[in-house]
Amino acid sequence: MKRPVAAVVATGRSAPDTVMTNHDFASIGIETSHEWIFERSGIVERRVAKKGETTASMGAAAGRIAMERAGVQPGEVDVIVLSTATADRLLPSTAVDIQAKLGATRAAAFDISAACSGWLYSMTTAEGLIMSGVAETALVIGSEKMSAIVDWTDRSTCVLFGDGAGACVLKRSKTGKGILSAFMRSDGKLAELLYRPDGGATTPFSAEVLEKKSHLVRMAGREVFKHAVRSMSEAADRALDGAKLTGSDIDLLIPHQANVRIIEATAKHSGISMDKVFVNVDRYGNTSSASIPIALDEAIEQGRVKEGSTVMLVAFGAGFTWASMIIRF
Ligand SMILES: CC(C)(COP(=O)(O)OP(=O)(O)OC[C@H]1O[C@@H](n2cnc3c(N)ncnc32)[C@H](O)[C@@H]1OP(=O)(O)O)[C@@H](O)C(=O)NCCC(=O)NCCS
Repeated sequence: MKRPVAAVVATGRSAPDTVMTNHDFASIGIETSHEWIFERSGIVERRVAKKGETTASMGAAAGRIAMERAGVQPGEVDVIVLSTATADRLLPSTAVDIQAKLGATRAAAFDISAACSGWLYSMTTAEGLIMSGVAETALVIGSEKMSAIVDWTDRSTCVLFGDGAGACVLKRSKTGKGILSAFMRSDGKLAELLYRPDGGATTPFSAEVLEKKSHLVRMAGREVFKHAVRSMSEAADRALDGAKLTGSDIDLLIPHQANVRIIEATAKHSGISMDKVFVNVDRYGNTSSASIPIALDEAIEQGRVKEGSTVMLVAFGAGFTWASMIIRF
């Protein structure tokens, strides 16, 4: 097991107040039912941003809470790494908007795009910056306004996603606790199973794009499901190998919250019983890269992650990308 270099000092989260239940889809003319959504995904409700609530505002709010709890002043942050698939603007990064909102005057700031695996990619990047001596204190945020990129007329996707943000302060470890292992992979051959076809530099936004709604999320749900189970299981194995641990050493598994059936399959593969798995997909839906930091913050709040806990985080997302991490608290 490697000596931890970077440790989670504190976490925070922020989600819109507006709750949209499965029953609420009827009011916007979507032909679906609570039973269909709940049976296939485990989702009961999700948060939806109001006008004016942005990826930057939610991310800054989550980051501010994490900094306050960590006793870190904005001026002490060396780098802000923001994971998002829903940048507020295409240029510049949303991370710089968060940097400005927080007054983190000494911080470098940049976005990472790895969809639902993005927060673990961001944590691994921040750990590397700490390991190399470039940074001592990092603010690692996952913030997503998925409601802005789903097609609200496509019942096979719009029922699955939600908005929110989570964050942590990651600092050079002086305690021997912190990140024990990290793993990341990708397979871009499968990009078109979950993507936004247009609206980027290849086919810039236009009246035609708007008409076709090809700037919004498209997903081959069944295919994604199969790959998610396989890749999250692999990611869990690699994280355990890297830390020289087995499933029985894990006090809590916090998987990406996309679908309770994917979560159950991942836990089963690693020999981890569901009482050691954190699930909040029922209350948030899939908040993409915000899902793990939101869940970690809730798990700490509920006392499910304590001093000495060994926690495994596992994610999968568009790209495809997949990633994992084991942290000792
Ligand atoms: C999306 C998902 C819930 C669909 O479940 P499924 O059991 O695979 O269902 P299917 O896609 O085969 O659809 C079955 C039927 O339900 C219908 N359907 C789709 N969305 C529906 C909805 N919201 N309400 C009611 N019916 C719906 C389909 O039209 C289809 O009808 P048909 O058989 O008459 O054509 C599931 O595939 C899934 O969770 N995939 C992974 C998605 C994911 O997690 N993505 C993010 C990864 S980070």
